[in-house]
Parts: sequence; structure tokens; C-alpha cells
Amino acid sequence: KQKVILDMDTGVDDALAIILAMRSPELQVLGITASSGNIDARQAHRNTKAVLGFLGRELALPPSSLPPTAAGLTATREIPHAAHVHGSDGLGGVTMSDEILQIIGDPAPSSEDAYTLFKRLVQEHEPKTITLIVTGPLTNVAHWIESDPDAVQRLKEIVVMGGVFFECGNRSPVAESNMYSDPESAGKVVAFCRRPVLLYPHVWRETLPLTFVGLDVTHRVTLRRDTLDRLSAERPGDRMIRFIKQFTADYMNFCYRNKGLEGCYLHDPLAVGYVIDPSFCRVERYHVEVEDRGRVARGMTIADVRSTRIFKERSKEVTWVCVKVDASRFENFFTERVLGPS
Ligand code: BDR
Ligand code: CA
Repeated sequence: KQKVILDMDTGVDDALAIILAMRSPELQVLGITASSGNIDARQAHRNTKAVLGFLGRELALPPSSLPPTAAGLTATREIPHAAHVHGSDGLGGVTMSDEILQIIGDPAPSSEDAYTLFKRLVQEHEPKTITLIVTGPLTNVAHWIESDPDAVQRLKEIVVMGGVFFECGNRSPVAESNMYSDPESAGKVVAFCRRPVLLYPHVWRETLPLTFVGLDVTHRVTLRRDTLDRLSAERPGDRMIRFIKQFTADYMNFCYRNKGLEGCYLHDPLAVGYVIDPSFCRVERYHVEVEDRGRVARGMTIADVRSTRIFKERSKEVTWVCVKVDASRFENFFTERVLGPS
């Protein structure tokens, strides 16, 4: 099994990503940390607990088998939250509904913070065996790099839902939302992953593979409203489908108002899907920069498409960008895993 840690600003598509990860036998979810983005880190953590609590109940998992969770940081610069996209609680309002409150109870805050949990998990497992999947701003990850670069270096790789390289943004004309929310942290993570460091004479710390699953591919994968409606009509007693229908409703309405989409994007689930089966996406290696100081281009992610051959020093960089997705194969895979056979 591939061991993973998820770091996310648990909104609607992050919640779908949790469900996909937890229902995928190829993955072992070691822990889930929360960041600020769609919603502040405390509420994101609460949403994570709500989804896990619901899943635990529906899949009859003992509470001890659910991954530990913790809340992380809010970026130093104020983060624009996305309550108008993901609902006031970041999860379409479901964490406030009596029905869901009854199911999940009132999740207690965790005793560990995100940094402590992350450090503990990477230390408990063999080096280079854990993939960190980030589906929110990179605030926590940049903090971990600053606090303990060796702990981060023990990861096998980092996969980030974020950025957009060849198309337009969603948060601004040129920036994707996770990158826009905390471009300084994104820039630090990109620089850390690609820079080999001289530890001792002739001994270099390796670069850390970093993959961007950005809007170029995530805007092509959706959960369709009619699929959800059909499955819920066919299986009225399926509480998982009902739960998903409830917490995706606001986001689907937003996507319809904004893009005329009859469904919602599967941004964050695609990052999980890519870790389960990298053949869902085609990746290309680029030198990547994040505009972390921009006025009009804040959070823009730039892939240098000029040949690496002319920049020999870049030939060891291991930053990958997803450029193509097998959309219908992923959508079918997602639907079957998360909603059951259709
Ligand atoms: C990303 O931004 C958030 O609103 C979503 O959860 C996703 O991670 C898409 O741009
Ligand atoms: Ca997210």
C-alpha cells in the first residue's frame, strides 16, 4: 500500500478526496492535517473530522482505525476564504445540519497540532515511503520546511493540487486558488523541492519530487449532477450518496452559476487519483516558479517551457506538471469508488 498524508483546507472537493482516499485499498492514509484556504484551519479540521466520522460510521470502522487529524496554520497574510464557493462552513452547511450533527456528534479538537502530527508520522515510518498530498494552500508545508527540513526530506514525494500553467486561473485571470491564497509559501515549497543542498563535501541532499495537479487537468474532471441524482433515486437508502448530495449542492450551484457546469469539479480527488494510478495523467518536467510578490499576477505558476537542454543546471530538477488527463476514465473510477457501482 502507498502510505499518504493529506494536508487540506477541507472544503467540498477536499471532502470528496478524503472519501476517495479512504475507500481506496491502494492507499494507507496515515493522517490528515488541516490548512486555511476555503475556510480557516480550525473549521477545515472540523470538516475533516465530520467526513471521517461519517465514513467510519457508514463503513463500520472502529474509531481507532481512522487516521489522526490536526489543525495547522493560518497564513501570515490574510487569506481570502471561499465561503461563497464551498458554503459558510466550507462543506455546504452540512456540519450545521441537525441530521449530520447527530451522526458525527461534535468533534473534539485534536490535542496535536499539524506540525507535531506530521513530524511524528514521518518519524514513525521508513524514510522515502510516504507521499504527501496537499489539496489546499501550501502554508503548513512551508512551515514544516522552515521548522524541520529533514523531516520533510524524509518524504518520498509531494503531490499538490494547485497551479495552472497553460490555461487561465480560477481565483484571478492567471492564478489558481490554492496558489493565490498563499503564494509565498508555495514559492518556498517549490524552491525547497528543487534545490539540491550540499550536506558535506561531495554529499548532496537529493531534490524532492514535486508534482502539480493543476487546473489544466482538474478543470476537465467533474462529478455530474445527473449521475448523483440518478444514483440517489436508484438507492434512496444509501446514506453516503445522500451525504455527498447534501454537501456538494452549494458547490454545484456555484459551478452552474459561474461556468454553466451541471456538476462540480473534482480538483482535489484528481490529486488522490493520480497517486493511486499515475497513468490518469500525463506529466511533463519543468522548471516552475510561483509569482509570490505580484500585484496583478499574485500566485501565478509559471512553467518554463524553453528546453531544459539550454539550462543544464536544471536537468536534475524533479518538478512535474500534469498536462493531460484521461478524464472519463478518472470520472468513472471516482464514481465507482466513492458512490458505488452504477
Ligand atoms: C482548489 O481550491 C479550493 O477551493 C479547492 O478545494 C481546490 O483545492 C481549486 O482551485
Ligand atoms: Ca482544497
